[in-house]
Amino acid sequence: MCGIVGYVGSKKAQPILIKGLFNLEYRGYDSAGLSTIENDDIEIIKTKGRVNSLKEKSENKNLNGTIGIAHTRWATHGKPSDVNSHPHLDNSNTFSVVHNGIIENYTELKEMLNSKGYNFSSQTDTEVIPNLIHYYYSKGNDFIHAVSLASKDLKGSYALSILCKNEPDKIIATRKDSPLVIGEGQSEFFISSDTPAYLNETKNFYFLDDNDIAVITKNNIDFYNNNLDKISKNIKTIDWSQDSVQKNGYEDFMLKEIYEQPNSIRETISSTLTQDKVEIEGLKLSKEYLKTINRIYIVACGTAMHAGLAVKKLFENLCKIQTEVDLASEFRYRDPLIDEKTLCLYISQSGETADTIAALKLAKQKNSKTIAISNVIGSSITREADYSIYTHAGPEIAVASTKAYTAQVTLLSILAIYFAEVLEIENPQIKSLKQDILELPSKVTEVLKVNDEVKELSKELYDKKDIFFIGRGIDYPASLEGSLKLKEISYIHSDAYASGELKHGPIALIENNTPLISIITDKKLVEKSISNVQEVITRGATSIIITNQKLVENNFHKIIHIPETNNYISPVLSVIPLQLLAYHVSKLKGLDVDKPRNLAKSVTVE
Ligand code: G6P
Repeated sequence: MCGIVGYVGSKKAQPILIKGLFNLEYRGYDSAGLSTIENDDIEIIKTKGRVNSLKEKSENKNLNGTIGIAHTRWATHGKPSDVNSHPHLDNSNTFSVVHNGIIENYTELKEMLNSKGYNFSSQTDTEVIPNLIHYYYSKGNDFIHAVSLASKDLKGSYALSILCKNEPDKIIATRKDSPLVIGEGQSEFFISSDTPAYLNETKNFYFLDDNDIAVITKNNIDFYNNNLDKISKNIKTIDWSQDSVQKNGYEDFMLKEIYEQPNSIRETISSTLTQDKVEIEGLKLSKEYLKTINRIYIVACGTAMHAGLAVKKLFENLCKIQTEVDLASEFRYRDPLIDEKTLCLYISQSGETADTIAALKLAKQKNSKTIAISNVIGSSITREADYSIYTHAGPEIAVASTKAYTAQVTLLSILAIYFAEVLEIENPQIKSLKQDILELPSKVTEVLKVNDEVKELSKELYDKKDIFFIGRGIDYPASLEGSLKLKEISYIHSDAYASGELKHGPIALIENNTPLISIITDKKLVEKSISNVQEVITRGATSIIITNQKLVENNFHKIIHIPETNNYISPVLSVIPLQLLAYHVSKLKGLDVDKPRNLAKSVTVE
């Protein structure tokens, strides 16, 4: 949700900033802007629209500055427009600021600054920041003291990179509840919201914690806490390859990421599970502790929440612990029953989703142990949780999540086995489940062969107004995810229902030729599921089935076969034809698959 970058070194900053913004466009793409310092003056170029427009506009200016900051926006306060784009300047043009987050008390701050003679030209919350810094600067504080004082007045969330024309050799960066990392090169530093922005330039990153302030010049970086005491920070090496942030011949990141799934699942498994052993780095829970747990909450947003729903049954059946799955944005406002006997799991691909982080903080306050499941090492959620475990999906760039979901379901299934083993629960199913998990990468490769079939099917569906998904048991969460994929990137209205629930209301929506996609992977539920499908066929629906079962009826419009596996992990396979379907429908409609309208990959506001 908004991407910010910065550069200080000896090279021209403009192309480096633009490159970083292109790599962060998944965080927002309705306007973009940059600032450099040229001849002791702040240059600023900004525009409504995508980074490409900024690239063209800024190339015409021939900027030579070797220090700069830039921003790609996902609008919250103030519609996308040139004037609302970042960077924002103070009234005296001394400070230039890019911001990710929301300043919740901006109205009060604006009133205070208005009363001191400051004027505002945008509708953003951000514009108060450079003016507040200037307010403190004008009282005799230097750059860093002015930033520190201003940030103490800010309520809400922020990651900031700031230029000051009177101290033209440095960038000051700070954060609270929004991510910020600083990559170190040879006599140069790269600031960004997330590591993929500059993986091509460096693998070594500092991760800022809340209220840290970094002062960055070409040859030096110093870190300070809230009170401006110097602190030291360790540098972390990120082992993601450069290729992982390129399309590598694929038309879109989403398609590349769909096809990366055999590997991302293999990597996730190989870091945790061998034939007879589960070992999860960073996690050491005792039998005594797990025996005290009487409830597990799995909390997340969007696709990550669907991964939680997919493993609820496994945690309950294998570990015999009641397991609830909740939306992070709802969880914290419903006063959930949490105490030291509750274990809370938080799933977040990015590790930066504000709702999920806030829900984690709530559990900590109530003395529950917390485990973060993330794809990004060093991300905010992993620094808040008691324990952090990682999917090894590699960077996911497309806004619609694919490989992160299948890696999450895989890792959470392994986590459930880990709990059962620590608890010394005797269950003959565990051995075969492990074997089935180990076979997932080759079965995913097998499922991907349905691509041509699915592409053909998409030609029949791309102009539909509504498409419904149904499933029973484990197939219900998988159908929720299939439906979410479709609506996210094709803009076709879609909903998913539990198959048995259809007759209690949603069946009223079925008209002649309404497409209904059913997932059927549970042997024990086949007959019941088929009866539900027949009920809608009778009412005119076009029935499409994704199944690993042999079906005897033959009045279905289309059946897509997938390999059989242990039912607990079948969503890893059944979701893949649905990811492909969403992709091809979106392509046929001529839409931007990787950057769907109104969405952002990492939602760092609540
Ligand atoms: C956004 C994205 C979704 C994602 C959700 C949770 O809404 O558009 O694709 O599932 O955030 O993201 P997280 O990074 O916490 O898994």
